[in-house]
Amino acid sequence: MPPNIFLTAATGYIGGTVLDTLVKYHPEYDITALLRKVPEGFSERYPNVKVVIGNFDNAQLISDTAAQNEIIIHGGKPKHIPSLEALIAGLLRRSGPSYLIRLAGTGIIADWQNGPYGELNPKIWSDIDDIDTITSLPAGNQHRHADKILQIAASEHPDQLKAAIICPPGIYGPGKGLGNTRSLLLPEMCENMLELGYPFYTQSGGNCRSWVHIDDLMKIYLGLVEAAVVGGGKAVWGKDGYYFASSHEVSQLHLAKRAGEILHTKGLIPTDQPKQLSLRTVREMRGGSSWEPMGLYTWACNTRARSYRSELLLVYEPNAPSVIDTLEDDLLAAVEHVKQHGPTYCPNLRL
Ligand SMILES: NC(=O)c1ccc[n+]([C@@H]2O[C@H](COP(=O)([O-])OP(=O)(O)OC[C@H]3O[C@@H](n4cnc5c(N)ncnc54)[C@H](OP(=O)(O)O)[C@@H]3O)[C@@H](O)[C@H]2O)c1
Repeated sequence: MPPNIFLTAATGYIGGTVLDTLVKYHPEYDITALLRKVPEGFSERYPNVKVVIGNFDNAQLISDTAAQNEIIIHGGKPKHIPSLEALIAGLLRRSGPSYLIRLAGTGIIADWQNGPYGELNPKIWSDIDDIDTITSLPAGNQHRHADKILQIAASEHPDQLKAAIICPPGIYGPGKGLGNTRSLLLPEMCENMLELGYPFYTQSGGNCRSWVHIDDLMKIYLGLVEAAVVGGGKAVWGKDGYYFASSHEVSQLHLAKRAGEILHTKGLIPTDQPKQLSLRTVREMRGGSSWEPMGLYTWACNTRARSYRSELLLVYEPNAPSVIDTLEDDLLAAVEHVKQHGPTYCPNLRL
């Protein structure tokens, strides 16, 4: 019998690429996707994928659908608690082990609360050596509240609920699904540089972010789903089933320098020389977010994460080009998006 898989957020950058990847590598899987609206061409491209129409607030529907599937891949809005609780409740109605793979993010280890803002933080987080710290971080850390709910449920029902958390840093490269195919950070950085007319950083610009190409991220999704299909495989599930999904890191200054060269060469900004902005200035560059620390989080923080667990257990070998190597494509795609659809992060930007 092919495994039954329930996937949420199948129109998202990440979730849409997960769906496309699973269908490509495992056409035999029996997949059901939760969609708010079916994108044009969906049934032609994915004729064997079943669709359930609903949103994350439809707890009964989500729970009932989860109860019919042995593997859940949940993404989209990682901090949405009722949908996570509904999925857990649904899986616990099943007999035998079921798997829930949750999307989170390295916001959990970002140093936005204490800095050092705009400077390199020497702390590099390992998903093996630091697992006890990661799984006991305070609920105020990004993603932690939802992580904790899943980890407690998995600890209470170890035979029924096998949980894993995939935790990507900044993602780049084009998505493969039928909905959104672009990531968040590079389009936001591009719009800000276009609006300001120069690349920027704050303090020394030494703050470092880990990155992963969307294609490399899919290797971890695929590895975990394939492990679940064979009854868990070599993957770790439960409280320690926590997988950073990074491949390399780049400082804000390095990124700004390369972005400046690209945008200036294309005639989109008058200078390629990065400018140092004050912390007060970047603090206000929130891209429309209502979360007050968002500017600091985006431009001044460190998120340095290593994927040791995937390397060890899933034979994860990222080999996509780096964020610097593909920056031109990502930035030009962001420029084109502004031309066609208007700005997303800087409302006054006109091209
Ligand atoms: N992209 C990154 O660099 C990155 C890195 C690390 C972590 N993350 C985390 O991953 C999350 C998803 O990222 P993404 O880039 O894939 O986002 P995205 O492209 O905006 O996708 C969001 C998905 O969630 C669905 N969704 C949102 N609200 C929903 C609701 N109330 N009910 C049902 N479906 C809903 C959307 O459906 P519709 O198409 O119907 O709107 C869409 O499929 C982010 O929020 C972030 O926390 C992202």
